[in-house]
Amino acid sequence: MSEHTGDAYRAIAAEYARTVDRRPFNAFYERPAVLSLLPPLAGTRVLDAGCGSGWYDEYLLSRGATVTAFDLNPDLVATTESRVGGRARVLQADLARPLNFVGTGEYDLVICSLVMHYLQDWGPALGEFERVLNPRGMLVFSTHHPFMDWKLFDRSDYFAVELLEDQWDIGPVSFYRRPLTDISEALDAAGFTIDRLLEPKPTDDFKQAQPEEYEKLMRNPWFLCVRARKRV
Ligand SMILES: C[S@@+](CC[C@H](N)C(=O)[O-])C[C@H]1O[C@@H](n2cnc3c(N)ncnc32)[C@H](O)[C@@H]1O
Repeated sequence: MSEHTGDAYRAIAAEYARTVDRRPFNAFYERPAVLSLLPPLAGTRVLDAGCGSGWYDEYLLSRGATVTAFDLNPDLVATTESRVGGRARVLQADLARPLNFVGTGEYDLVICSLVMHYLQDWGPALGEFERVLNPRGMLVFSTHHPFMDWKLFDRSDYFAVELLEDQWDIGPVSFYRRPLTDISEALDAAGFTIDRLLEPKPTDDFKQAQPEEYEKLMRNPWFLCVRARKRV
């Protein structure tokens, strides 16, 4: 098993679940970008890795996908379960461990929104994503933009992979920062080819909700969104 910092959600899960659907950083920034990378969903089999409180699962189901969702945090698993009401398979599992509950080549799409930065080593998780996808399968994920963490935390070595501790309004979290090259190389080593890479900008709804943050996001990258295809 590789290291991860996902246990921080034990303390913040309830408040996270209560607020995340409407948070401008999610609703008007990350999600529109991730959704723009998704293939047509009707009839597809999707694995949602690190599903949180299940916003993406509800969306995927509403578009006709068959969904398996998992998260490390049991409270968030319970929230997603009650949200999807039996329409999806929802499990508690750790992305830093082998995903023994899913078969090889079972999925058309893996979606992993804002989770990868909690993993110290991306190799095992990406290897599992590659295994569970069929030969035409796609991986769509979002993560912290490497430049953003490097700048905000005033780090001296951009090329280091390092643990950072942050204080959100709902509690403390920690995550790993890594250079863009590490992201690209980890994808390549796991057998993926990058198809699209977005440095999103906020939508107009974000401007209405939080004008000052909007101006900041129009000038500074915050998240990175990637669509990668299995190399065949
Ligand atoms: C920022 S939330 C994103 C939730 C969801 N993907 C979304 O976008 O709404 C990060 C999620 O990653 C989960 N997580 C962190 N480390 C994990 C791990 N090692 N295995 C599975 N889930 C993990 C957390 O429990 C949390 O639900």
